[in-house]
Amino acid sequence: MNDPNPAGGREADMELVVTRRVEVAADVVQLELRSPERSALIPWTVGAHIDLILPSGRIRQYSLCGDAGNPDAYVVAVQRQPSGRGGSVEVCDSIATGQLLTIRGPRNHFPMGDAANYLFVAGGIGITPISAMIREVESAQRDWTLVYGGRTADHMPFLDELTELGGTRVVPVPQDVSGLPDIDELIRNAPAGAAIYCCGPSPMLAAVESAVESLRDDVTLHIERFVAPDVVDSPRTAFEVELRRSGVTIAVPPDKSILDVVLDTIGDVDFSCEQGICGACETKVLGGRPEHNDSLLSEEERESNTTMMICVGRSKTRKLILDL
Ligand code: FES
Repeated sequence: MNDPNPAGGREADMELVVTRRVEVAADVVQLELRSPERSALIPWTVGAHIDLILPSGRIRQYSLCGDAGNPDAYVVAVQRQPSGRGGSVEVCDSIATGQLLTIRGPRNHFPMGDAANYLFVAGGIGITPISAMIREVESAQRDWTLVYGGRTADHMPFLDELTELGGTRVVPVPQDVSGLPDIDELIRNAPAGAAIYCCGPSPMLAAVESAVESLRDDVTLHIERFVAPDVVDSPRTAFEVELRRSGVTIAVPPDKSILDVVLDTIGDVDFSCEQGICGACETKVLGGRPEHNDSLLSEEERESNTTMMICVGRSKTRKLILDL
Protein backbone atom coordinates (compact mmCIF):
# COMPACT_ATOMS: atom_id res chain seq x y z
CA MET A 1 0.00 0.00 0.00
CA ASN A 2 1.01 3.61 -0.40
CA ASP A 3 2.01 5.21 2.85
CA PRO A 4 -0.75 7.34 4.26
CA ASN A 5 0.17 10.96 3.83
CA PRO A 6 2.71 11.43 6.63
CA ALA A 7 1.81 15.08 7.03
CA GLY A 8 -1.83 14.14 7.38
CA GLY A 9 -2.89 16.79 4.87
CA ARG A 10 -5.14 16.46 1.84
CA GLU A 11 -3.83 15.45 -1.56
CA ALA A 12 -3.79 18.48 -3.81
CA ASP A 13 -6.55 18.78 -6.40
CA MET A 14 -5.40 19.57 -9.95
CA GLU A 15 -7.39 21.20 -12.67
CA LEU A 16 -6.77 19.58 -16.06
CA VAL A 17 -8.29 20.14 -19.46
CA VAL A 18 -9.88 17.40 -21.59
CA THR A 19 -7.73 17.50 -24.72
CA ARG A 20 -9.23 14.47 -26.45
CA ARG A 21 -12.44 12.49 -26.17
CA VAL A 22 -12.95 9.38 -28.27
CA GLU A 23 -15.26 6.34 -28.21
CA VAL A 24 -12.87 3.41 -28.02
CA ALA A 25 -15.59 0.71 -27.87
CA ALA A 26 -19.36 0.49 -27.60
CA ASP A 27 -20.37 2.47 -24.50
CA VAL A 28 -16.74 3.27 -23.63
CA VAL A 29 -15.37 6.82 -23.80
CA GLN A 30 -11.66 7.57 -23.50
CA LEU A 31 -10.54 10.95 -22.17
CA GLU A 32 -7.08 12.46 -22.44
CA LEU A 33 -6.32 15.07 -19.77
CA ARG A 34 -3.48 17.59 -19.80
CA SER A 35 -2.42 20.59 -17.77
CA PRO A 36 -3.92 23.80 -19.23
CA GLU A 37 -0.35 25.21 -19.32
CA ARG A 38 0.93 21.93 -20.82
CA SER A 39 3.25 21.47 -17.83
CA ALA A 40 4.38 17.99 -16.77
CA LEU A 41 1.97 16.00 -14.60
CA ILE A 42 2.71 14.00 -11.45
CA PRO A 43 4.40 10.77 -12.63
CA TRP A 44 2.49 7.50 -12.29
CA THR A 45 3.21 3.80 -12.42
CA VAL A 46 1.14 1.12 -14.16
CA GLY A 47 -1.88 0.02 -12.12
CA ALA A 48 -2.47 3.56 -10.78
CA HIS A 49 -5.80 5.38 -10.83
CA ILE A 50 -6.92 8.98 -10.51
CA ASP A 51 -10.06 10.44 -8.98
CA LEU A 52 -12.20 12.52 -11.31
CA ILE A 53 -14.18 15.12 -9.40
CA LEU A 54 -17.14 15.61 -11.70
CA PRO A 55 -19.12 18.84 -12.14
CA SER A 56 -21.97 17.26 -10.12
CA GLY A 57 -19.58 16.77 -7.18
CA ARG A 58 -19.45 13.00 -7.67
CA ILE A 59 -15.95 11.57 -7.15
CA ARG A 60 -15.07 8.50 -9.20
CA GLN A 61 -11.88 6.46 -9.62
CA TYR A 62 -10.58 5.48 -13.05
CA SER A 63 -7.45 3.50 -13.86
CA LEU A 64 -4.83 5.20 -15.98
CA CYS A 65 -4.52 3.37 -19.27
CA GLY A 66 -2.11 5.41 -21.33
CA ASP A 67 1.64 5.23 -21.51
CA ALA A 68 3.17 5.40 -18.01
CA GLY A 69 6.29 6.93 -19.55
CA ASN A 70 4.36 9.96 -20.83
CA PRO A 71 4.50 12.81 -18.27
CA ASP A 72 2.29 15.08 -20.38
CA ALA A 73 -1.11 13.42 -20.26
CA TYR A 74 -3.36 11.15 -18.22
CA VAL A 75 -5.66 8.84 -20.17
CA VAL A 76 -8.72 7.11 -18.70
CA ALA A 77 -11.47 5.02 -20.30
CA VAL A 78 -14.95 5.03 -18.82
CA GLN A 79 -17.70 2.51 -19.51
CA ARG A 80 -21.21 3.95 -19.47
CA GLN A 81 -23.18 2.03 -16.85
CA PRO A 82 -26.80 3.20 -16.79
CA SER A 83 -27.55 1.06 -13.73
CA GLY A 84 -24.55 2.45 -11.81
CA ARG A 85 -24.40 5.37 -9.37
CA GLY A 86 -24.39 8.07 -12.08
CA GLY A 87 -20.69 8.89 -12.43
CA SER A 88 -20.02 6.97 -15.64
CA VAL A 89 -23.18 8.31 -17.29
CA GLU A 90 -22.14 11.86 -16.37
CA VAL A 91 -18.68 11.33 -17.88
CA CYS A 92 -19.94 9.66 -21.06
CA ASP A 93 -22.89 11.97 -21.69
CA SER A 94 -21.64 15.37 -20.64
CA ILE A 95 -17.85 15.70 -20.49
CA ALA A 96 -16.57 17.34 -23.67
CA THR A 97 -13.23 18.22 -25.23
CA GLY A 98 -11.97 21.56 -23.87
CA GLN A 99 -13.73 21.14 -20.52
CA LEU A 100 -11.80 21.64 -17.28
CA LEU A 101 -11.98 18.76 -14.80
CA THR A 102 -10.62 18.52 -11.28
CA ILE A 103 -8.61 15.41 -10.54
CA ARG A 104 -6.87 13.98 -7.49
CA GLY A 105 -4.02 11.45 -7.44
CA PRO A 106 -2.54 9.43 -9.05
CA ARG A 107 -2.59 6.67 -6.46
CA ASN A 108 -1.49 3.06 -6.99
CA HIS A 109 -3.00 0.14 -5.09
CA PHE A 110 -2.49 -2.33 -7.95
CA PRO A 111 1.25 -2.05 -8.56
CA MET A 112 3.01 -4.49 -10.87
CA GLY A 113 5.94 -6.48 -9.50
CA ASP A 114 8.80 -8.11 -11.29
CA ALA A 115 8.24 -11.64 -12.63
CA ALA A 116 9.60 -13.94 -15.31
CA ASN A 117 6.17 -14.29 -16.88
CA TYR A 118 2.76 -12.75 -16.56
CA LEU A 119 -0.79 -13.96 -17.07
CA PHE A 120 -3.26 -11.08 -17.42
CA VAL A 121 -6.97 -11.80 -17.02
CA ALA A 122 -9.29 -8.92 -17.88
CA GLY A 123 -13.05 -8.59 -18.13
CA GLY A 124 -14.64 -5.67 -19.97
CA ILE A 125 -13.51 -2.27 -18.73
CA GLY A 126 -11.10 -4.10 -16.38
CA ILE A 127 -8.72 -3.98 -19.33
CA THR A 128 -7.80 -0.36 -18.48
CA PRO A 129 -5.02 -0.95 -15.89
CA ILE A 130 -4.07 -4.22 -17.60
CA SER A 131 -3.47 -2.48 -20.96
CA ALA A 132 -0.87 -0.19 -19.36
CA MET A 133 0.78 -3.20 -17.68
CA ILE A 134 0.98 -5.05 -20.98
CA ARG A 135 2.71 -2.14 -22.70
CA GLU A 136 5.26 -2.11 -19.90
CA VAL A 137 6.02 -5.86 -19.89
CA GLU A 138 6.17 -5.90 -23.68
CA SER A 139 8.76 -3.14 -23.71
CA ALA A 140 10.72 -5.05 -21.03
CA GLN A 141 10.51 -8.11 -23.32
CA ARG A 142 8.89 -10.34 -20.69
CA ASP A 143 6.67 -13.32 -21.43
CA TRP A 144 3.02 -12.51 -21.12
CA THR A 145 -0.43 -13.74 -22.10
CA LEU A 146 -3.73 -11.90 -21.92
CA VAL A 147 -7.10 -13.62 -21.62
CA TYR A 148 -9.66 -10.92 -22.28
CA GLY A 149 -13.41 -11.44 -21.86
CA GLY A 150 -16.20 -9.07 -22.87
CA ARG A 151 -19.83 -9.02 -23.92
CA THR A 152 -19.01 -8.77 -27.64
CA ALA A 153 -15.81 -7.81 -29.48
CA ASP A 154 -17.34 -4.34 -30.01
CA HIS A 155 -17.57 -3.89 -26.25
CA MET A 156 -13.89 -4.69 -25.65
CA PRO A 157 -11.74 -1.52 -25.61
CA PHE A 158 -8.17 -1.74 -26.95
CA LEU A 159 -8.73 -5.25 -28.35
CA ASP A 160 -7.32 -4.38 -31.79
CA GLU A 161 -4.25 -2.55 -30.54
CA LEU A 162 -3.45 -5.22 -27.96
CA THR A 163 -3.83 -7.94 -30.58
CA GLU A 164 -1.52 -5.99 -32.85
CA LEU A 165 1.00 -5.81 -30.00
CA GLY A 166 0.73 -9.38 -28.75
CA GLY A 167 -0.56 -11.47 -31.66
CA THR A 168 -1.54 -14.94 -30.41
CA ARG A 169 -0.55 -14.01 -26.86
CA VAL A 170 -3.89 -12.16 -26.74
CA VAL A 171 -6.80 -14.58 -26.28
CA PRO A 172 -10.09 -12.72 -26.78
CA VAL A 173 -13.17 -14.35 -25.28
CA PRO A 174 -16.22 -12.41 -26.52
CA GLN A 175 -19.15 -13.88 -24.68
CA ASP A 176 -21.57 -13.83 -27.63
CA VAL A 177 -19.24 -16.13 -29.58
CA SER A 178 -17.19 -18.06 -27.04
CA GLY A 179 -19.13 -17.88 -23.76
CA LEU A 180 -17.27 -17.16 -20.53
CA PRO A 181 -13.55 -17.97 -20.11
CA ASP A 182 -12.91 -21.34 -18.45
CA ILE A 183 -11.15 -19.93 -15.41
CA ASP A 184 -10.17 -23.27 -13.84
CA GLU A 185 -8.59 -24.39 -17.10
CA LEU A 186 -6.81 -21.09 -17.44
CA ILE A 187 -5.32 -21.16 -13.96
CA ARG A 188 -4.39 -24.86 -14.26
CA ASN A 189 -2.41 -24.03 -17.42
CA ALA A 190 -0.68 -20.86 -16.14
CA PRO A 191 3.11 -21.18 -16.36
CA ALA A 192 4.95 -22.15 -13.17
CA GLY A 193 5.82 -19.08 -11.14
CA ALA A 194 3.50 -16.81 -13.14
CA ALA A 195 2.37 -13.47 -11.76
CA ILE A 196 -1.37 -13.27 -12.44
CA TYR A 197 -2.95 -9.82 -12.68
CA CYS A 198 -6.73 -9.75 -12.87
CA CYS A 199 -9.24 -6.93 -13.17
CA GLY A 200 -12.88 -7.25 -14.13
CA PRO A 201 -16.35 -7.96 -12.79
CA SER A 202 -16.71 -9.43 -9.29
CA PRO A 203 -17.73 -12.97 -10.40
CA MET A 204 -14.60 -13.19 -12.56
CA LEU A 205 -12.38 -12.05 -9.67
CA ALA A 206 -14.05 -14.53 -7.31
CA ALA A 207 -13.58 -17.38 -9.82
CA VAL A 208 -9.90 -16.56 -10.31
CA GLU A 209 -9.30 -16.27 -6.56
CA SER A 210 -10.97 -19.58 -5.88
CA ALA A 211 -9.16 -21.35 -8.76
CA VAL A 212 -5.76 -20.11 -7.61
CA GLU A 213 -6.50 -21.09 -4.03
CA SER A 214 -7.59 -24.59 -4.90
CA LEU A 215 -5.33 -25.41 -7.86
CA ARG A 216 -1.99 -23.63 -7.58
CA ASP A 217 0.49 -22.71 -4.90
CA ASP A 218 3.30 -21.70 -7.28
CA VAL A 219 1.74 -18.55 -8.76
CA THR A 220 1.02 -15.11 -7.29
CA LEU A 221 -2.35 -13.42 -7.74
CA HIS A 222 -2.98 -9.67 -7.81
CA ILE A 223 -6.49 -8.36 -8.31
CA GLU A 224 -8.16 -4.98 -8.53
CA ARG A 225 -11.81 -4.41 -7.69
CA PHE A 226 -14.11 -1.75 -9.10
CA VAL A 227 -16.79 -2.40 -6.51
CA ALA A 228 -16.60 -3.64 -2.95
CA PRO A 229 -17.42 -7.34 -2.54
CA ASP A 230 -20.68 -8.23 -0.80
CA VAL A 231 -20.02 -8.73 2.88
CA VAL A 232 -22.21 -10.27 5.51
CA ASP A 233 -22.62 -7.43 7.98
CA SER A 234 -21.80 -8.35 11.54
CA PRO A 235 -23.61 -6.28 14.17
CA ARG A 236 -21.90 -2.89 14.43
CA THR A 237 -20.96 -1.54 17.81
CA ALA A 238 -19.95 1.89 19.10
CA PHE A 239 -16.34 2.71 19.93
CA GLU A 240 -14.03 5.68 20.55
CA VAL A 241 -11.33 7.11 18.32
CA GLU A 242 -8.59 9.39 19.57
CA LEU A 243 -7.37 11.74 16.82
CA ARG A 244 -3.88 12.12 18.24
CA ARG A 245 -2.63 15.12 16.24
CA SER A 246 -5.90 17.01 16.62
CA GLY A 247 -6.01 16.28 20.36
CA VAL A 248 -9.65 15.16 20.39
CA THR A 249 -11.45 11.90 21.12
CA ILE A 250 -14.62 11.17 19.18
CA ALA A 251 -17.41 8.65 19.70
CA VAL A 252 -18.30 6.55 16.63
CA PRO A 253 -21.88 5.26 16.93
CA PRO A 254 -22.98 1.98 15.23
CA ASP A 255 -24.73 3.80 12.37
CA LYS A 256 -21.79 6.04 11.37
CA SER A 257 -18.37 5.40 9.90
CA ILE A 258 -15.14 6.73 11.38
CA LEU A 259 -14.89 8.90 8.26
CA ASP A 260 -18.36 10.42 8.91
CA VAL A 261 -17.43 11.41 12.45
CA VAL A 262 -13.94 12.63 11.48
CA LEU A 263 -15.44 14.84 8.77
CA ASP A 264 -17.96 16.23 11.25
CA THR A 265 -15.18 16.89 13.76
CA ILE A 266 -12.08 18.05 11.89
CA GLY A 267 -13.36 18.28 8.33
CA ASP A 268 -10.27 18.21 6.22
CA VAL A 269 -9.40 14.58 5.35
CA ASP A 270 -9.12 12.78 2.03
CA PHE A 271 -11.77 10.34 0.93
CA SER A 272 -13.28 9.27 -2.34
CA CYS A 273 -15.06 5.92 -2.93
CA GLU A 274 -16.37 5.34 0.64
CA GLN A 275 -16.35 1.60 -0.21
CA GLY A 276 -12.85 0.60 0.86
CA ILE A 277 -11.60 0.20 -2.71
CA CYS A 278 -9.67 3.39 -3.60
CA GLY A 279 -7.24 4.00 -0.72
CA ALA A 280 -7.89 7.76 -0.49
CA CYS A 281 -8.82 7.63 3.20
CA GLU A 282 -5.92 5.41 4.31
CA THR A 283 -4.86 6.50 7.80
CA LYS A 284 -2.06 5.46 10.14
CA VAL A 285 -3.16 3.57 13.24
CA LEU A 286 -1.20 4.45 16.39
CA GLY A 287 -3.08 2.28 18.86
CA GLY A 288 -5.92 -0.25 19.18
CA ARG A 289 -6.91 -3.00 16.74
CA PRO A 290 -8.85 -2.07 13.59
CA GLU A 291 -11.55 -4.23 12.01
CA HIS A 292 -10.58 -3.59 8.40
CA ASN A 293 -13.49 -4.38 6.00
CA ASP A 294 -11.67 -2.90 2.95
CA SER A 295 -10.62 -4.60 -0.31
CA LEU A 296 -7.12 -3.17 -0.46
CA LEU A 297 -4.87 -4.20 2.39
CA SER A 298 -2.97 -7.48 2.27
CA GLU A 299 -3.29 -10.04 5.06
CA GLU A 300 0.12 -8.95 6.32
CA GLU A 301 -0.90 -5.28 6.37
CA ARG A 302 -4.13 -6.13 8.21
CA GLU A 303 -2.27 -8.09 10.84
CA SER A 304 0.26 -5.30 11.37
CA ASN A 305 -2.54 -2.99 12.64
CA THR A 306 -0.59 0.04 11.44
CA THR A 307 -2.90 1.41 8.77
CA MET A 308 -6.61 1.32 7.85
CA MET A 309 -9.30 2.69 5.52
CA ILE A 310 -11.48 4.81 7.77
CA CYS A 311 -14.44 4.84 5.36
CA VAL A 312 -15.28 1.18 6.06
CA GLY A 313 -12.98 0.13 8.91
CA ARG A 314 -14.19 -0.07 12.48
CA SER A 315 -12.57 -1.14 15.75
CA LYS A 316 -12.09 -4.45 17.53
CA THR A 317 -11.00 -2.62 20.66
CA ARG A 318 -12.92 -0.12 22.78
CA LYS A 319 -10.63 2.61 21.48
CA LEU A 320 -8.53 3.28 18.39
CA ILE A 321 -5.82 5.92 18.12
CA LEU A 322 -5.34 7.44 14.67
CA ASP A 323 -2.71 9.76 13.23
CA LEU A 324 -5.14 12.56 12.42
FE1 FES B 1 -11.89 4.97 -0.81
FE2 FES B 1 -11.87 4.93 1.85
S1 FES B 1 -12.58 6.50 0.57
S2 FES B 1 -10.94 3.50 0.51
